[in-house]
Amino acid sequence: MSEIVLVVAVAENGVIGQGGKIPWHISEDLKRFKALTMGHTVVMGRRTWDSLPRKPLPGRKNVVVTRNVGWRAPGAIPATLPEIDLSYITPGEAVVMVIGGGEIYRHFLPKAKRIELTEVHHAFDGDAKFEFNRTDWTETKRESHITPDGLRYSYVTLTR
Ligand SMILES: NC(=O)c1ccc[n+]([C@@H]2O[C@H](COP(=O)([O-])OP(=O)(O)OC[C@H]3O[C@@H](n4cnc5c(N)ncnc54)[C@H](OP(=O)(O)O)[C@@H]3O)[C@@H](O)[C@H]2O)c1
Repeated sequence: MSEIVLVVAVAENGVIGQGGKIPWHISEDLKRFKALTMGHTVVMGRRTWDSLPRKPLPGRKNVVVTRNVGWRAPGAIPATLPEIDLSYITPGEAVVMVIGGGEIYRHFLPKAKRIELTEVHHAFDGDAKFEFNRTDWTETKRESHITPDGLRYSYVTLTR
């Protein structure tokens, strides 16, 4: 069975999205997202799929979770919950990257052993959130950065 890893960028008030978009732009974080996920299977909700400017994400197997059994899109492998059988979709793969959004993180959080978190040190308005109990997790890595326009953020690895 593959290890489930959540990859998520979260504002200090828990916000991850607003109106179908991520409410900040951190180009270095997009590069980190690409590096973390490249070559792996990524699992996302249908709304996150819709939000992607370029789809499918190249170089990755794109699994899209939807309740709509007839849903199809070029480059996407449709899946349902809780029936999703990752051992079938990702045989022999060491990790599966869960890339959002809010509903999909909530579903996979109890099964995850690692979170690759980007903490954005600012509060944003939003309608999608990622909230979890930090005390369940051990911080194993932290790297702090700032964007050219002064937004502070940190890459944090959490494991349990
Ligand atoms: N900051 C970040 O790291 C990050 C990452 C990813 C996304 N986001 C943001 O998050 C927001 C999207 O998150 P969201 O919570 O609105 O949507 P989402 O989790 O991306 O997708 C929700 C969809 O997943 C499907 N789904 C959910 N539960 C299901 C279940 N039990 N069984 C089958 N299908 C199920 C449904 O698709 P159907 O409606 O087709 O049935 C549902 O509409 C956007 O603003 C996006 O930009 C942020």
